[in-house]
Amino acid sequence: MTLFTWIDLVYLLAVIGFILALKGLGSPKFARQGNLLGAAAATLAIAMTFAIPSVRHAGGRLILMVVAMVIGALIAVPAARRVKMTAMPQMVAIFNGVGGGAAALVSLDAFLILTQYDASVGKPAVYRIVEVILGVLIGCVSLSGSAIAFVKLQELITGRPITYPGQQVINAIVGLAIVGLAIATILTANVALLVAMAVLSLVLGVIFVLPIGGADVPVLISLLNSFTGLAVAASGFSLGNNLLIVAGTLVGASGILLTRMMSKAMGRSLANVLFSAFGSVVTAAGGADGSADSRPVRAGTPEDIGVLMAYARKVVIIPGYGLAVAQAQHIARELADLLMERGVEVFYAIHPVAGRMPGHMNVLLAEANVPYDELKEMDEANPEMPTADVALVVGANDTVNPAANNTPGSPIYGMPIVHADQAKAIVFLKRSMRPGFAGIDNELLFDPKTTMLFGDAKDTLSKLVAAVKSA
Ligand code: TAP
Repeated sequence: MTLFTWIDLVYLLAVIGFILALKGLGSPKFARQGNLLGAAAATLAIAMTFAIPSVRHAGGRLILMVVAMVIGALIAVPAARRVKMTAMPQMVAIFNGVGGGAAALVSLDAFLILTQYDASVGKPAVYRIVEVILGVLIGCVSLSGSAIAFVKLQELITGRPITYPGQQVINAIVGLAIVGLAIATILTANVALLVAMAVLSLVLGVIFVLPIGGADVPVLISLLNSFTGLAVAASGFSLGNNLLIVAGTLVGASGILLTRMMSKAMGRSLANVLFSAFGSVVTAAGGADGSADSRPVRAGTPEDIGVLMAYARKVVIIPGYGLAVAQAQHIARELADLLMERGVEVFYAIHPVAGRMPGHMNVLLAEANVPYDELKEMDEANPEMPTADVALVVGANDTVNPAANNTPGSPIYGMPIVHADQAKAIVFLKRSMRPGFAGIDNELLFDPKTTMLFGDAKDTLSKLVAAVKSA
């Protein structure tokens, strides 16, 4: 067996590791092992790459590679360790953008080798230039798009959709110019044309992301992640590296599947997420101080609600974005444990897009060591809602808003929801009457069965724990 066969065999092993890792990441129970397996497979793949003769004998460039890897690790490891759960989408955006940029640079480098160093063999084959163009185009869009996604999520610029007159026309002109430059690059194999296309691709990434509302950005990041995978696969073709082709395709496919699942769980098409500037208009009557809607709501005391829950048979906790903001997962678990000790049946109903990123609630609750069997996905939880005595809605809003079922024309109409409205009593823990991400009123807050407990979720949950203890 030649060295290259060995390298490909080890790459195959790494790819199997990646696939099993993805499988593990699909369930909260095996996510940790899946993550470790993926990291081990990536380490194996990187180590094997150093066995490739052209890498092994790269002399000074080999040192540069190692230095770059060390610098990358020194920045990424502490950043990933310190990042807050609520800032995770930003972190993914940065890592993803850097990946796209690296893929674009690799493709650009492959083009220089093809046209400068190998110039003696004549103009490169068209398919080779097409591989390079795809790598540069998709990688650059992913880089600049992810950078804008990052600044939006970090609130360095407004999270609202940024729209301006003639936006679609400008996007179309930039798109057409890129196509023109790509064709010209294929015909002439000219580096300057390719660089011009790269610059316009960076511009396209920016103008593509600007009109997307901050809260839709996680869906966009998943899409950009898929783009990065494709750019990596394209650069794999340019380098003739099987691992990059397969790993890039895996990222591309899983990214697009995740994007589809997220859009579906929001009851919206991907086109609507990308092009409708969702979130630019707030339709809720509740003002910033929560006072604009003058209808009365029933506000309860922690003591009353504590008694209600302590003597209930079944309590369903429905967590949402506010649980993450308040970092109230530990105290939520304490309350659930306390109720269970008293013989109350308790479980958590998890909406697939509760929070701001896929699996947000699962990760938070896992952090608080909530056993997996206490979490029920929305479809499993909903049939049990009519028999629940209390639906305790902790910092969730859109994901329990009945408008999704009964108000055609509402921005969230068609989105599946957790049926908190079917419980015998509903308790909302939130700070005000302000709407959730979709910016629309929630009639459930005014339902006669509903009691509001205003305040930061960590604080109100602590009061509920005390109330249940003394009930
Ligand atoms: P939201 O509808 O956004 O509602 C969150 C609620 O939490 C708000 O009404 C807010 O009310 C409350 N809140 C905020 N901070 C709080 C705190 N410290 N203590 C107590 N309450 C607090 O959340 P959701 O029900 O989880 O729905 C998620 C939304 O995000 C959906 O519309 C979904 O489509 C969208 N989205 C999700 C994803 C993914 S993948 N998860 C991606 C993109 C978009 P107050 O301000 O009154 O406290």
